[in-house]
Amino acid sequence: MVRIAILASGNGSNAQRLMDHFRSHPKARVVLVACDKPQAGVVDRAWDGGVPCYLFNNAQLRDGTLQRELLGLRIDLVVLAGFLRLIPAEMVHAFPSRIINIHPALLPRYGGKGMYGHRVHEAVIAAGETESGITIHHVNERFDEGDHIAQFKCPVLPGDTPDSLAARIHGLEHAHYPEVVEGRIALMAAGL
Ligand code: GAR
Repeated sequence: MVRIAILASGNGSNAQRLMDHFRSHPKARVVLVACDKPQAGVVDRAWDGGVPCYLFNNAQLRDGTLQRELLGLRIDLVVLAGFLRLIPAEMVHAFPSRIINIHPALLPRYGGKGMYGHRVHEAVIAAGETESGITIHHVNERFDEGDHIAQFKCPVLPGDTPDSLAARIHGLEHAHYPEVVEGRIALMAAGL
């Protein structure tokens, strides 16, 4: 059984989809939600879903406390779902090709430090883009620069606001993130 930890900082709608998808999955289970914001909606979602929630702060992320917790729990795959901090290089190396992120735009555009959530959608609309989407990628030592696993596109419509675009993007994320994580797990089973 592949043991998944989700890292999240916010509302947790993607975390919810992942917990639901893998709840009775034959090959994988979400065994932990780790969160750096005690007030975040994802904390309640983990509680409601019966998944243990580990709260940590930025110092514990940087000094290796979180990494030790994940290794101690024999986590195989770390899935970021609205997690906003940089993953330390040491942790990237401790989970080689085993940390996945979702970003609400078509990387390499509209990524990097400070580009998350609504800020991304505001920038996409301000630039007059007619297309946006999501990127699911491996995590390396730099924000949003790891190898891409999958991208999915949607239109940016005339009159779109950051809220309306965010809703469309969330729809894409919810439809695809669990299946892409599942695909990654199948590759892991094949030793990749
Ligand atoms: C998602 O849209 C995710 O792509 C984005 O945060 C949102 C979290 O929503 N992540 C980033 O912007 C990372 N740079 P959720 O808490 O409802 O899953």
